[in-house]
Amino acid sequence: MPTTVRNPDIPELPLAKAVPKGNNGHRYRNGYGRVTVAAAPGEDALAAMTEPVHDSYGRRVRYLRISLTDACNLRCVYCMPEDMQFRPRQDLMSDEEVLFLVKVGASLGVDKIRLTGGEPTIRPGVVDLVRQMAVIPGIRDMAMTTNALLLDEMAQPLADAGLNRVNISIDTIDAERFRRITRWGDIDDVWRGIAAAERAGLRPVKLNCVVTRGFNEEDVIDLARLTLENDWEVRFIELMPFGEVSDFQLSHVVSFREMRERVESVFGELEEASYDFVDPSRPFRIPGAAGTLGFISSVTEPFCQGCGRVRLTADGKLRLCLLRDDEVDLLSPLRGGASFDEIRALMEEGAYHKPWGHGLASGDFAENRAMNQIGG
Ligand code: 5AD
Ligand code: SF4
Repeated sequence: MPTTVRNPDIPELPLAKAVPKGNNGHRYRNGYGRVTVAAAPGEDALAAMTEPVHDSYGRRVRYLRISLTDACNLRCVYCMPEDMQFRPRQDLMSDEEVLFLVKVGASLGVDKIRLTGGEPTIRPGVVDLVRQMAVIPGIRDMAMTTNALLLDEMAQPLADAGLNRVNISIDTIDAERFRRITRWGDIDDVWRGIAAAERAGLRPVKLNCVVTRGFNEEDVIDLARLTLENDWEVRFIELMPFGEVSDFQLSHVVSFREMRERVESVFGELEEASYDFVDPSRPFRIPGAAGTLGFISSVTEPFCQGCGRVRLTADGKLRLCLLRDDEVDLLSPLRGGASFDEIRALMEEGAYHKPWGHGLASGDFAENRAMNQIGG
């Protein structure tokens, strides 16, 4: 078991062991059928109770990333096997449960939401879910990370429902390599999706590129070139190790330093833009370019000091660090009849116990899940 670096002055939290209260197994019908969760406070009460939550290191936790489904319409080679088995729908949070947990988060000062997957756009009813989430008091920013395949049709409805921005995953602009990395994706769908996102005002469009040795490390040049003319942020992400494929992933990491050198060898020295130590992406610009470049160096130069993120996995666990297994089960107690205040106390305590940072440098890997269940 990986060990977790904890503040020694605070007691241990019994992670992921919250016992469902009085769960008789009957209250709950999913498959988007009948669902009963406790009543959440109304808008005014919710707005009144908002109180910022900090972790034990004083980091303000205000950013909740929610995996809406572990399923995806692609199978990127570094993310999942081709015959990936997804969770049955009743294991996933229902809309009502997602909204309840967002309200709990908002009451603790969460003001920013990112919807992820798998692929969030394939979740049935996602536009309605966004619409209901957008009006929760305290939520001021809602973004989505998507592979953009469905954005041509969905960007406008999502924007109308209250989505503010999208991050689009695109690891290469070469059609053949795109197909190879995603196993069957058509890059033209992504271009159409990007255009639709821009038309719908989901700006600034950010493009996420995971750089994998032997697959696309040379593509950083063509992707960086996109920023010359387009007002986009192209972000290069170091491949992170997860679960059973962590050996593959670690041996295929391309470091921030190497990516930067590759880009600079073609475009000259990059200008550094100001960095707030909160956004994981360090911003740069090719001199004179319309857009910016970002580097997310989770593996070789971690940025845990500014991390105010917690995550909800598709099956309703509060995950405290992307790269550690520490989780607090919120969905089981919710289905077991826990009240708003009880779930709120679990989330608050979980957030307080957010680990300082990941332990990759000392060989601690997250083992219990793959990326598609956490959502990045
Ligand atoms: N390391 C870094 N990023 C990853 N993604 C998926 N798996 C990994 C990994 N092992 C990215 C996807 C997408 C986002 C959801 O996470 O490419 O941009
Ligand atoms: Fe789907 Fe994203 Fe995983 Fe690719 S990386 S298979 S697009 S969830």
